[in-house]
Parts: sequence; structure tokens; C-alpha cells
Amino acid sequence: YLVDKGNHRHFMEKEIHEQPEVISHTLAHYLDFANGTARDLDLPFDFNAIDRLAISACGTAYLAGLVGKYWFERYARLPVDIDIASEFRYREMPLSARDAALFISQSGETADTLASLRYCRKAGMSIGAVVNVRESTIARESDVVLPTLAGPEIGVASTKAFTCQLSVLASLAVRAAADRGKVSAEEEKALVRALSETPRYTNQVLQKVEHQIEKLARELSHYKHVLYLGRDTNFPLAMEGALKLKEISYIHAEGYAAGELKHGPIALIDEKMPVVVIAPHDRIFEKTVSNMQEVAARGGRIILITDAKGAANATVETMETIVLPDVPEIISPIVYAVPIQLLAYYTAVFMGTDVDQPRNLAKSVTVE
Ligand code: AGP
Repeated sequence: YLVDKGNHRHFMEKEIHEQPEVISHTLAHYLDFANGTARDLDLPFDFNAIDRLAISACGTAYLAGLVGKYWFERYARLPVDIDIASEFRYREMPLSARDAALFISQSGETADTLASLRYCRKAGMSIGAVVNVRESTIARESDVVLPTLAGPEIGVASTKAFTCQLSVLASLAVRAAADRGKVSAEEEKALVRALSETPRYTNQVLQKVEHQIEKLARELSHYKHVLYLGRDTNFPLAMEGALKLKEISYIHAEGYAAGELKHGPIALIDEKMPVVVIAPHDRIFEKTVSNMQEVAARGGRIILITDAKGAANATVETMETIVLPDVPEIISPIVYAVPIQLLAYYTAVFMGTDVDQPRNLAKSVTVE
């Protein structure tokens, strides 16, 4: 497989731009757009017969799993335990052979994730793996391989693998919802239709906000600390934004649930720490507005990533407001991943770091 950068400066830039296409391939594998249904995947377990799903993974793949938890619980009413793989094996949680375990890994070789898989195998659980590299150890050792069709990901910072993992998890959640009788045929159709629009929206975001984010990144590269806030599925995204930024720009960043702000991190707020707020105009938007007011009152500078309605209703002054299209709830985490990737990417470019191969990091961590 010959992989080159094409017209792009870095693999990461190329991989960010490939997302509309690879998300589209991935979704088509799991969803039947013509019938408006999630495909039957021939799983080794029945979503309707299990009491819960245990997900484990590392880094960005873990954060995809965390978004997945919100989806499985919201749409399929299926309880999900989600763990960082290196913690999973040691916390001595009770496991049941009647339940299923899901492992998420781009490389399929991450040592901690693989060790967790073997641990669940010993417990007699059914095992599914969401992997990008099909010929990997994790793929080989699982009962069912749920591929992400992202193509080779070269940049150490995961981008397209993440949004493809989200695409798989959202599709699985719809399938689980149907199997468990938690959605009507009409509702399933509406969810599948919403998901089918993801490639178009991600493309629109790339067209619309890339230049604005590049300019913003120049400014962000002068700061030493950045805080990311979000609620609901934007909480994992806040952590993903912070992870991406620290990985490639070496700027210290933290991702927090917005509601946790006043339980600690608010002590850090001043004009020297910008706060990236990921907040589409959803049912908890007003709560996030209160958090932004708390930040603004302490001289904090806000970078708001929202939609038109959110921009109109955020009653605070921002350093920058990035306005994304108004998208259906289920696809929002996939679409909102794009601006946070771009922000990290361009900030790193201005910092002059080795974007594709940041210091101290390996693409695949094969030691525990
Ligand atoms: C993501 O940007 C990181 N480089 C890292 O957190 C990565 O997601 C993690 O090491 C897991 O890798 P995997 O998906 O290959 O298992």
C-alpha cells in the first residue's frame, strides 16, 4: 500500500481532509441507506440478550468509546462500562460470561487493549473489536471484527480513525436500539438518515472554518495552557481536543466536563488560559452559557465552537466564535471533532513541531 502526502504538508492534514470520504465508506459498511436500517452484523452475541457492554481502549480510541457509551445508553438503553484499558484489568470488576466486550484500536496492536481483551476472553465474554488494521493481533483474537474503513493512518495524532470509530459506534448503537426494541422503524430510519449526512456536514465544516481556525491557531500558539469544556458527548470531545493539542503542539491542555468547572479548574482561569467551549445549541446549552459567564467574569478568554443558534444565544463576549452547521444530535460529535483537530493541527504548525511524529510518542504503543 503506497501512502504519500499528496499535496498536503503533513499526513495529519491529509488525514483530516480524507474524513468525509472515509466516514462515508465506514457508514456504508454498517448502514443500509436505501432501507433506512442498520445492517445485521452477524454478531456473536445478541444486543437484546446482554445486560451490559464493557468497552475498553486507550487514548483517542478510549474517548471514542466514551462517546459510544452516551449513544448506547441513550438510544439502545444498554448500560455501558467504559474503561481505559490499562485500568480495566486491575480494578477487579465483576464480569459476566453473558455480557459482551468491545475493544477499540486503530492499530489493533496496543498492548494494554490486547491484554484487556485476553482478560475478557478468560472470563468467557463475547468479544468484538473495532479496528482499523484488519490483520492485527486484536482483530485476530476477537470473535467479530468491526472494521473502521479509514485507510492507513500515518500521523501519530489520530484523526480519521477517531471519526471512523465514532461512525462505527453510532451505527452499532442504532442496531442495538433496533434489536432491543427501543426505536420504531420510523425512528431507526431517521437516525440512519441523519448519519448518512455526516460526510456532507464534515465536508462543509472543512470548507467553511479551516481558514478561520488557521488564523485563530496563530494566536493560540502564544499561550501555555488551554482548557477545553463540553457537556454530554462534547465532554469526551473536550478531552479529545486537549489530548490532540498537547500531543502535537506541546501546549498544556485539559479537557473537563463543563459542569465540573466550579469544582476546581475555575481556580486556574485568567486571561492567560483560553477556554475552548464545545457547545452546539442543544438541550443543555443554557447550562454551558452559565459556565461561560463564570469564565468571562474572571477575565477568561473564550473560544466558542457552536452552531448559528448557539452563537446567537451565547450571551458572552468571546475571543472567537466558530460557527458550524446545525446538525442532527446523533452526528454532532463526529462533525464537532473536525474543528478541534484543525485547531490542534494549525497550532502545532505555528509552533514548528514535528506534527506527524511528535516527540516521545509512538503510533502504536506495544508495551504495557
Ligand atoms: C491519539 O492521537 C494518540 N496517538 C493515542 O492516544 C492513540 O489513540 C492510542 O495510543 C491508542 O492507539 P490504538 O488506537 O492504535 O490502540
